[in-house]
Amino acid sequence: MRIGVLTGGGDCPGLNAAIRAVVKHAEIGHGHSVIGFKRGWRGVAEGDFTPILRDDVRNALTLGGTMLGTDRFHPDENPGATEQVLQVLKDEAVTALVCIGGDGTLTAAAKVAEQGVNVIGIPKTIDNDVWLTERSIGFDTALWVATEAIDRLHTTAESHHRVMVLEVMGREAGWIAINSGIAGGADVIITPEEPFDIEKVVSRIRHRHKAHAKYSIVVVAEGATPAPGTALEFSGAKESMLTGKTSELIADAIASLTGFDTRLTVLGHVQRGGIPTPFDRILGSRFGVAAVDALSDGKTNMVTTLQSGRIVLEPFSKIAGKQQKVPKELLKVARSLL
Ligand code: F6P
Repeated sequence: MRIGVLTGGGDCPGLNAAIRAVVKHAEIGHGHSVIGFKRGWRGVAEGDFTPILRDDVRNALTLGGTMLGTDRFHPDENPGATEQVLQVLKDEAVTALVCIGGDGTLTAAAKVAEQGVNVIGIPKTIDNDVWLTERSIGFDTALWVATEAIDRLHTTAESHHRVMVLEVMGREAGWIAINSGIAGGADVIITPEEPFDIEKVVSRIRHRHKAHAKYSIVVVAEGATPAPGTALEFSGAKESMLTGKTSELIADAIASLTGFDTRLTVLGHVQRGGIPTPFDRILGSRFGVAAVDALSDGKTNMVTTLQSGRIVLEPFSKIAGKQQKVPKELLKVARSLL
């Protein structure tokens, strides 16, 4: 087999672990050869690729980012690109593809698979919102970074008697916010799953500062939105999607309504950079090996997922277009500990 591998969407730690696993297991375990397409689907459409041998991935396990580069280009959204993809795969005698990406890259992969191409998807996204997998590559590292940020903000909050608002990533789902908030002992956690009422947020902070402590930590997912009819309204539907916008409105409202000294930290891309945690290295490795085994067994049009700690292959059709939200149980745990 000649396997093509690509990484699409936002980069994250653990991608190189997955690429390394694909290359090593394909070459050593099955005698396949591997080529790496550069910058995601764009590299496939443009025929931009390089052969990758096991020697090329020797030091890849601990590296963040992606050695192949990435892009948010999707062939199905660009006229003529799907035809170009099919032509390049034919010309280069690529028999199968391993696509490592989030919802957008995997949805594009599903559409290419419909054209008869053998494809296995591997889920990655720090947002952890790919359907049916308990964990996507990159989430664990982002969670670690966000939790460390809360730990550090705690000491400043306590020393200065301040309200520290931390914005973390998560446009559609609040996995980083809820988990880092619980792990870091945040006092208010605001996620896209539960539209917020700024007056309730403020009254909780006032009560805490009066009765318990003189400081508070507020964690906000970037996709958080106010509940309809509550005091803080966005002027436009897109507003909540802008990095820093929601949390800025929240921090300003807390400062003006409580009078407490309030500071905002937008963690941003720090969450997506740097070396992967052991969990992400292992998950990337497990998904990479499973993808190569699946292709070698003649399986296609499927995605590797983690379910109850085991790797399970699921068809693209069950995953595309769906999103994994934070479950009610986890939201309840967070609420119970505030
Ligand atoms: O990959 C997911 C993600 O990190 C989101 O959490 C975030 O909203 C978005 O990507 C940021 O995208 P970009 O890197 O293009 O600014």
